[in-house]
Amino acid sequence: MSNPSLLILAGDGIGPEVMDEVKRIITWYGDKRDMPFDVSEDLVGGCAYDKHGTPLHDDTMARAQEVDAVLLGAVGGPQYDDLDFSLKPERGLLRLRKEMDLFSNLRPAQCFDALADFSSLKRDIVAGLDIMIVRELTSGVYFGEPRGIHTEGNERVGINTQRYTESEIARVARSAFELARRRGNKVCSMEKANVMESGVLWRQVVTEVHEKEYSDVELSHMYADNGAMQLVRNPKQFDVIVTDNLFGDLLSDAAAMLTGSLGMLPSASLGLPMANGRPKALYEPVHGSAPDIAGQGKANPIACILSFAMALRYSFDAGAEADRLEAAVETVLADGARTADLLGPEGGSPISTTQMGDRILAALDASL
Ligand code: IPM
Ligand code: MG
Repeated sequence: MSNPSLLILAGDGIGPEVMDEVKRIITWYGDKRDMPFDVSEDLVGGCAYDKHGTPLHDDTMARAQEVDAVLLGAVGGPQYDDLDFSLKPERGLLRLRKEMDLFSNLRPAQCFDALADFSSLKRDIVAGLDIMIVRELTSGVYFGEPRGIHTEGNERVGINTQRYTESEIARVARSAFELARRRGNKVCSMEKANVMESGVLWRQVVTEVHEKEYSDVELSHMYADNGAMQLVRNPKQFDVIVTDNLFGDLLSDAAAMLTGSLGMLPSASLGLPMANGRPKALYEPVHGSAPDIAGQGKANPIACILSFAMALRYSFDAGAEADRLEAAVETVLADGARTADLLGPEGGSPISTTQMGDRILAALDASL
């Protein structure tokens, strides 16, 4: 049998630097855990536009459909701000999500104990936090038609459409219930059923799926604005949150700050099972391309490294190896390893992206 295949799309800004550390970890698993991967690399985002005039070349798209998992760094940069909408770096990412049909986006927000004082919230609110946001990723206002900017009378009108079908809601709800069964067995569904018909349907379908298939899981509903408030008031009340594409984008950024730094948050975007039984999958840090610090060795590689841990867990059925990698991250943080984004108010001297990679590799070695 051939090795599992990975396509690395490091992208723009800090993407390549943080991905370099992930590549070393992948090599470590091949050497030390007898888990060799076939790794190929390609371009996405601004760098793809610079080379090919498009943020995602068709050949790259085709390759992404073939591999066992895609690992993505980050896309975007200020030099692309004036590009036509269809050519912007973000379109490359959105095309991958849409064409791979990665409808279930898992964004865990976990507060590592060593970082509990770094959150903008008080320690006791966030210490021990472990929640999972499941964001619908292939529909809603991100993709709904009609969309565009046109002229009505003597003024311009900007239009986007929030649209959800029953089956789109049901499949992401199932994925949230399945996850909840393996965690705290609670799902909170968030929408705006008080003002949006799509929210009314969302609530109905989630309730139906729950009654028919998952009545053993505890289900609650919340308006998304209240959800945002509850996330900063008492985030530990949640286990799994399931929500649509746009609310999920906003709520996951808010949840990220509970953990101390956006530089810590991984994500997995999963679709339907492929012929080999593995889900279509793309793994990426929640943080962006951070052009202001790109190329300086300052970026925190942990979110990207933890995204690879999610790949081990969700694509390669290697939960114990994912635990090992997450424990290595926890160890180096407890030992005081800090990239610049993780320096608290008391300051201190940060280590570089590569040094953080060194420390995590050393902790992995020590785990053997
Ligand atoms: C995210 C990002 C993306 C999104 C951008 C880069 C298109 O903010 O993954 O959260 O809006 O989905
Ligand atoms: Mg976002």
